[in-house]
This record gives sequence, structure tokens and C-alpha cells, in this order.
Amino acid sequence: MSESKVELVHTLFHGTGSSYGKMVHLTTFGQDNAWKKRLLARIDAPKRVLDLACGTGILTFEMARRWPDARITGVELRAEYLDEARAHAAAEGIGNVDFILSDAQEVRLDDRFDYITSCYIPKYVDLTVLVRNMAAMLAPGGWLLLQDFAYPAEPEARDQWERHFVKLRELARTRYPDWGTMFDLLPDVIRKTRWIEDSVEQMGLNGLVDVEVESLGWGSAATVLGRKPAA
Ligand SMILES: C[S@@+](CC[C@H](N)C(=O)[O-])C[C@H]1O[C@@H](n2cnc3c(N)ncnc32)[C@H](O)[C@@H]1O
Repeated sequence: MSESKVELVHTLFHGTGSSYGKMVHLTTFGQDNAWKKRLLARIDAPKRVLDLACGTGILTFEMARRWPDARITGVELRAEYLDEARAHAAAEGIGNVDFILSDAQEVRLDDRFDYITSCYIPKYVDLTVLVRNMAAMLAPGGWLLLQDFAYPAEPEARDQWERHFVKLRELARTRYPDWGTMFDLLPDVIRKTRWIEDSVEQMGLNGLVDVEVESLGWGSAATVLGRKPAA
């Protein structure tokens, strides 16, 4: 499914798992924590949460800490990243998380989730598939929250954004060679993606309501959210 996008993800993220925490901070202009906090502010007393593309588990573990009575399931495509997450859960004795190694587009679970979260996956997937499958796994009244990068619309913000990625490419060349492919290819992925418009459209087509777009970081990221109507 979406074979070329899945291959792209493997190419981009190869060898980056152990340094991911530092690099997500740098890539997002230091805003990753703030953006995740905005997403978490949308979550109220969850019981079952599915965290798509959980990576090393930054958001997964934050939710597990905040809501110890909730069960959080992370889904991740790359074993390299999931190994980091599993090691962290074991080292910290975090018991209310579990992990699935899978393409998030192919995950089908019998559980019904009151929240399905994701940071940085929408640009890498076929949203007709992902939103349809996730809408089916939401409990009545449950929320789907998708967050990812965006290409800023304002010319001044665009200039800053383009300069930022030039600096990131330089940083990869001089200090983080494992990130060279990522910073060579990621800017064009972000320039070309239509994930915001596509998510809004697919949420509507799959019966989600109260669909909203929250722009973040001068248009350099966004959250798109929608709710499954209560039965
Ligand atoms: C930038 S990282 C984000 C990790 C985590 N969500 C966070 O915010 O820290 C993107 C992650 O998405 C994963 N990913 C991309 N496409 C995926 C897919 N189709 N299914 C599951 N995981 C995917 C990648 O392997 C990578 O670990």
C-alpha cells in the first residue's frame, strides 16, 4: 500500500533513530514540544489512545505519563525507531503502553479508541486509506488528531523556512551525516504535500464532524482534527 511513500520513509529515516530526539527539536525551530502541547491540550481524560507513527515514543510516553489510567498503543513502521521506544518503556518501567510494528495504513484493531493521535505521518501516507481506517477504529465521540509540517504561505515565513533548511543541510554535512538524505529530500516533500486539504476532505467524507485546522509556527505546521459523532 502506498509502496513508494513507504519506501521514501525507509530511505529518509534510515540510521536516524538514536539521534531523532535532538534533530526533531532542531528541525522544528525548537517548536516540537510546543506543537505537541497544543495537540495534547485537545485531549481530555482518554481511556484508549492510538498513536500513529509513534517513532521513539516522544508523544506516546508523554500521554502515558499524563494519563496513567489510559492505555496508549503506538504504531511505527521502522523497527529501528520502535526498538528505541521499547527500550525506553522498559528502562522507565512505563506499563500503560504497547507497541505495534506496522504500516499505520494497514493497522486494523478490534479496540475502539477515544483518541487517535499522530505527529509527522500525514505527508507520508495515502490519506484516503488512513482516514477511512482510523475513522472505523474511533469510538463514538472519539477524535482523530493529525499534526505535521506545512509549507508556510507568507513570503517572509517562506524565506525563513528555506534558509532554515539550508542550515540544516549544512549541519548534516558537518556534524550529522546520517541526516543528510533527510534534509536533502524533506523540504520538497513538505513543499508538495497537500495533507491539510486532503485530511479535511477525507475527514468529511468519512463522517467526522467539527473538523478544524489549527495552524502552528507561522504556518510551518498544522493540526487537523475531527470527531466521530456520538452514536
Ligand atoms: C518524524 S518521526 C515522528 C515520530 C513521533 N510521532 C514524534 O512526533 O516524535 C516520523 C515517524 O513516522 C514513521 N512513519 C512514517 N510513515 C509511516 C507509516 N506509514 N506507518 C507507520 N509509521 C510511519 C517513521 O518511521 C518515523 O518514525
